[in-house]
Amino acid sequence: MITFPEGFLWGAATASYQIEGAVAEGGREPSIWDTFSHTPGAVRDGQTGDVACDHYHRFADDVELMASLGLQTYRFSVAWPRLSDLSFYDRLVDALLERGIAPVATLYHWDLPQRLQDAGGWTSRDTALQFAEYALAVHERLGDRVHTWTTLNEPWVSAFVGYGSGRHAPGVTDPAAAFTAAHHLLLGHGLATSALRSAGAQSVSLTLNLSPIHGDAEPARLVDGLANRLFLDPVLKGAYPADMLDYMAKYVDVSGFVDDVPLIAQPIDVLGVNYYTTNTVYTDPDARGHREYPGTEGIRFAAPTAPVTEMGWGVVPSGLTDLLLRLTRDYPGTPLMVTENGAAYDDKVDASGQVPDPERIAFLDGHFRAAHAAIEQGVDLRAYYVWSLLDNFEWAHGYHKRFGLVHVDYDTQRRTPKASAGWYRDVIARNGLPD
Ligand code: FCB
Repeated sequence: MITFPEGFLWGAATASYQIEGAVAEGGREPSIWDTFSHTPGAVRDGQTGDVACDHYHRFADDVELMASLGLQTYRFSVAWPRLSDLSFYDRLVDALLERGIAPVATLYHWDLPQRLQDAGGWTSRDTALQFAEYALAVHERLGDRVHTWTTLNEPWVSAFVGYGSGRHAPGVTDPAAAFTAAHHLLLGHGLATSALRSAGAQSVSLTLNLSPIHGDAEPARLVDGLANRLFLDPVLKGAYPADMLDYMAKYVDVSGFVDDVPLIAQPIDVLGVNYYTTNTVYTDPDARGHREYPGTEGIRFAAPTAPVTEMGWGVVPSGLTDLLLRLTRDYPGTPLMVTENGAAYDDKVDASGQVPDPERIAFLDGHFRAAHAAIEQGVDLRAYYVWSLLDNFEWAHGYHKRFGLVHVDYDTQRRTPKASAGWYRDVIARNGLPD
């Protein structure tokens, strides 16, 4: 047996806009994802999160489903647009606790109130201040029962996909806006962390999407800077990387950024790591670069080598070991949790009503082993959340990409646990895998 440390927690993750639906219920105000998904051409086949998995109405059954898988913890996000009435999360948290499932609440998984976007969104410093106030309000309501808080999910995506390439809401395509947004997201994280801390929150975290970058040294250092160090260093080292400050200065006035770093660099209790794949980059004068990494003209982002998932992402379990070891080496002293890892495949309910998904089982098996290898080498990894509990609204891909342990039939909202769900239940029960 490959056994994980005692007390290691196994869970699954979701996000509000991807599963809740009920976008006009319970006093919810419109978010940037409502606006964006209703914009023609923004999401594949014009799909929206209006109904999604209808989790807002079906949460009690979904919590039963989690209990049947033996989940020990559940990572969900609170929709900022529901701030005027948080009773849904009250009920959700109570249901989780009744089933002995530890709730981990993410405060921002991309559904910014449209009202704030109209005032500049994350390009406005005021959004960071408002985020801290919102964090306090949610803590006031749920802090007696939620012990682990995550401020932001993947600020790189919010900034560079939301404001850089425009592939995500709010659909802005301006590198300067992307760098400004990145800074204000980090500031929002820092301000919310201090606020949560002073309100007595037990454990505060930040979730970053991180990726080992391979290839030629110079472009790899740049892309690693943009993807990883730009977010890790101000939070965990108390300084923007010098090369990134110079780089950003080509686009924006960074003088104020430096002054804000002490506000950003609040101690966190645990770092959330979302890992999906690695990237490989080469110097190539003819290459157009990548529009989500501003200024990378002349850099070729290599196509992943097989096998790939339905997203076209390379399956590279060893990248998770490398990443966890690198974090432990370069940013020592911060415990880690894998807050997302998983894969999309073209899953179908078969004639006998089952959903065989051997590729997902192999994917997760490989990544769990990779995480275990990191633990053996001294990484302080505390928990692992599979993305995702349910098939759901995969942003610009709509409902076409299925990441769930549980299949969702969107016509009937019927949930069918996939083979991987049963397999995961056994992993959790044994706290490990056969050797
Ligand atoms: C991550 C997101 C999550 C989901 C997965 C596939 O970037 O945090 O919402 O879309 O990717």
